[in-house]
Amino acid sequence: MGSLLREIQERRAKRALDTRKVPEDVVRRIMAAATWAPSCFNNQPWRFIVIESEKALDTVKGYLADGNYWAQKSPFIVLAVTENELDCRLSDTRNYALFDVGLAVESLVLQAVKEGLVAHPIAGFKPVPIKKVLGIPGKYTLITLVILGYPGDESHLNEKHLELEHSERDRKPMEEVVMFNSWTLERPDNQD
Ligand SMILES: Cc1cc2nc3c(=O)[nH]c(=O)nc-3n(C[C@H](O)[C@H](O)[C@H](O)COP(=O)(O)O)c2cc1C
Repeated sequence: MGSLLREIQERRAKRALDTRKVPEDVVRRIMAAATWAPSCFNNQPWRFIVIESEKALDTVKGYLADGNYWAQKSPFIVLAVTENELDCRLSDTRNYALFDVGLAVESLVLQAVKEGLVAHPIAGFKPVPIKKVLGIPGKYTLITLVILGYPGDESHLNEKHLELEHSERDRKPMEEVVMFNSWTLERPDNQD
């Protein structure tokens, strides 16, 4: 197996975090990895806010969904922000801002895993108050929070999350999502 695939598979959405601070040089390498992602016309539409002070962490953690209780332990959270006007908007609904932010976030996540961290993107948070309190302009989309930290003990995880921490990985079979040379999956009725 190619080594990159092994490393990609090593990443998983773990939840058992330690509160230990992440050193600044590690933070900087992780953020550098994000900024080296490709983007349409090299527009680099991503904007990141690194949350690492006690005050900023407390603020952001106040707006997590209840199910994301495990993220309260994180010493380092990255907010990913963008806006359609920052990137290519091309024919046939191709708006590339969110796509390019996704590429950057995956680079960030993989570098974090390589540094021995857990890196877990979430959508379970209240974007409007977080934007307001951190001064993010209203028209920007706060698309994800990446919860980071060194692996920690599992005693605070609920039963479901404890099981997920060690469960088999779950992916659709390749045949359901990958086609070769033409569209060979079912097509919705009345579609061109
Ligand atoms: C956009 C996005 C939003 C997610 N939101 C949450 C979340 O709010 N809470 C959570 O515990 N996990 C969240 N996850 C993690 C996914 O549940 C997880 O990636 C998925 O179940 C696959 O598991 P794996 O990453 O370990 O392979 C999110 C992942 C992504 C990419």
